[in-house]
Parts: sequence; C-alpha cells; structure tokens
Amino acid sequence: MDIYQPAEDSYLLQKFVRKYAFGRVLDLGTGSGIQALTAVERKDVREVIAVDINENAIKELKKEVSKKKIRKIAVKKSDLFSNVKDKFDTIIFNPPYLPQDKIGNEIIEDSALYGGKHGWELSEKFFNKVNQFLVAKGKILFLFSSLTNKEKIEEIISHNLLEFKELEKQKLPMFETLYVYLIEKSKILKELERKNIENLKYLTHGKRGNIFTGISDKSKRVKTHFAKKEIVKVGIKVKRKESSAIERMRNEANWLKILNKKNIGPRLLFSGEDYLVYEFVEGEFILDWIKDNNKKDIQKVLVAVLKQCFELDQLGVNKEEMHHPLKHIIVTKDNHPVLLDFERCSRSDKVKNVTQFVEFICRIREELENKDIKLNKIDLREKAKSYKDDINPKNLEIIIKYLSS
Ligand SMILES: C[S@@+](CC[C@H](N)C(=O)[O-])C[C@H]1O[C@@H](n2cnc3c(N)ncnc32)[C@H](O)[C@@H]1O
Repeated sequence: MDIYQPAEDSYLLQKFVRKYAFGRVLDLGTGSGIQALTAVERKDVREVIAVDINENAIKELKKEVSKKKIRKIAVKKSDLFSNVKDKFDTIIFNPPYLPQDKIGNEIIEDSALYGGKHGWELSEKFFNKVNQFLVAKGKILFLFSSLTNKEKIEEIISHNLLEFKELEKQKLPMFETLYVYLIEKSKILKELERKNIENLKYLTHGKRGNIFTGISDKSKRVKTHFAKKEIVKVGIKVKRKESSAIERMRNEANWLKILNKKNIGPRLLFSGEDYLVYEFVEGEFILDWIKDNNKKDIQKVLVAVLKQCFELDQLGVNKEEMHHPLKHIIVTKDNHPVLLDFERCSRSDKVKNVTQFVEFICRIREELENKDIKLNKIDLREKAKSYKDDINPKNLEIIIKYLSS
C-alpha cells in the first residue's frame, strides 16, 4: 500500500501541530509521520505515539525514527484506537476524508483518501471513541474538507459532547475548502466524566434537549447517586445549544426530586446547570406497547397512569401534554408506566392531568377497540367532567371502574 505523501492538508494541519501539541501526543493515521515529527520538536511534548493502519507507513517511519535516533516517538500499527492505550493530551488526526469514488462500478480502494461512502464515516468512528483516550483538558487537532460534509462533522462532534473551534480554512482549487478544528471536551462532558458516567452515546433529541445514554458503575459511583444496582444505565438530557431554556432543565430537575418520592417519573440521579441524569427507562412508548399487549394488561396500565395523574392533580401540578403523551409515557417490561419529560411542569389552580389523559384515551379509542376494550366517548367525557368539577378519589374511581369493565 502506498504511503500518503504530505500535501496541502498535511501542511495546513502541521502549522497548528507546531502551535498546540503538548504532553503525551497521539498522531493517528501518521502516514509519512509529518505530524509526529513536527510535534516531537516542541518542548512541551513528552512523547508521541504515531499509528497507522498501513504497514508500509509503519515500517518506513520506524526506520526513519531509528535512523534519526528520535527516542520520543513510538511507531505502531493500529486501526484507529485498536492498539492504543491510556489517555493523551493531544490527539492529531488528518483522516481519509473524501467520499468513496468509483471507476465505472468499481469502488476505488485507498484507505489514505476515502473515509467511507460519504467521507465522514471513519471520522464518526474516531469521534465515537476519542473521549476515552483524551484527558479532561486534552485537545484534538482535526482536519477535514468541504467534500466531507461540514454540517455532518459538526453534528458528530456535538453528539459526542465535544466542542470545536475553527482554527483555519483554506480554499483549494476545484471548489474544495480544508478546515482545521481545535476540539475539546465540553464542560458537561468533563462534569459527567468526573462523576464516572461512562460509555456516553447520543440517543435522540427532543424539542429542548439532546438525550444521551451512559453507564454508571456502583463501584465508582459518587455519593449523590442513590441507585442501588451495580451497573445503572442512565439517560442524560442536555440542553441543546439552540435552546435558551436553562430554566426548563432546572424546572424538570426540581419537579423530579419531588415526584420521585411518589414514584413518578424516571429516577433523578443528579443534575447540573444545563443537564440532568436519570436512571434510563427501558421499555416501549405507550401506543406501541398497547399494540403488543392484551386487554387486561392494557386496562391495568391505563389505570396506573390515571393514578399517577391523580397524584399530580392532588399536588396541584400540571405536567402538560398528557392529552398527547405518545413520547412521554414508557411502559417497562413489568408493565409499569413511567411518565417522562417534566420540563413544562408547573403549579396550577386548574389541574388537568387526569382529564387530559382521559382525552387521550378517547382519542385512541380505535386502538383500544382492537383489543376488545369498548368505550363510549360521551360517557367517558361526562365522567371526566364530573371529576373536573369535583376532584376527589370517588370520581377518579368511577373513571377507573368504567375503564376496567
Ligand atoms: C490523509 S492521510 C494523512 C497522513 C498524515 N497524517 C498527514 O497529515 O499527511 C490519512 C492516513 O490515515 C491512515 N488511515 C486510514 N484509515 C485508518 C485507520 N482505520 N486507522 C489508522 N490509520 C488509518 C492512512 O493509511 C493514511 O496514512
């Protein structure tokens, strides 16, 4: 396999390696070794590990390093991080960043140039692993091209709770631009790592927050965690950059503290200014769950939700959105419904959790009928109205009885 000869991209990145490399350095995809050899010249660089998947590159660089008697560089074969240990202060990566090319129907194979079908796939693998290999105050020097898809690269970076700064962009002929980014761990990531939340993965996003999952290991758990299990899968809700709703995050954390005592909501483990960490709820969203279950179990779950709504009503709190809770109720394996998302929860004189949920039941009448749960919307709404006029356990019981028949 040919060794990548330094080109514009290499020289552009080299400029910043000269400026930023420090401590223990990893040069990933070292190729000719240009970045490693540059880094080692800096006084505050302690050692450099230069790795590449290309055996020829490794052989040649080993020869050069030994000929020049450079002791601070170790050269190894590695597929990304597969043969790399411990953490680094600086990680340098000039990845293969071009989208796959074809001659006729034949894909051109060149692992120095092509980063996958769209160009960013190898970079995504890199970013999904890099946090484990970077110290809290570490820096990543990363190069890519406009042909890689800038938005996608930025999304991948933020989905790994990292933050970037553009150091330079350079226009090349043929409408291509190169970018060098300086990437660091975000404040939230550092905080989560300090609290020993590991294996962080992006899951999905809501209106105001991105949701990540992670693992909290009891042996490493700090005092604030009250979960008893050895290994707990956690959900982490992080305020999206675009959202200004810090208040909402705080609001949700405050309410979860109160509602957890009544066994409502996911168990909050701890929270920070713009994030919260809770025990992850494994299960199915309510409507999907209804489709897969039988009449008796469905009736029990609907009643269990109603009872939680009644607790909320009793507390003088509106959760909001209970008439449309498709993504806000998860039913666990043992048929326990857990209400999610308390960002908009607030005190109110006009509580409407039970009545909103009854409205939802009316709306999914067809799905319920498929399961032999027959109900008359007018009757049910009437019972909800009586409840609304006089909120008490008796009127709740009337609704429950009707649903359970
Ligand atoms: C664009 S070249 C950069 C070479 C050199 N760092 C530079 O700046 O000139 C990309 C390098 O990444 C290496 N590479 C590709 N896939 C890799 C992988 N999965 N693990 C490690 N290195 C890889 C290639 O062999 C190639 O040497």
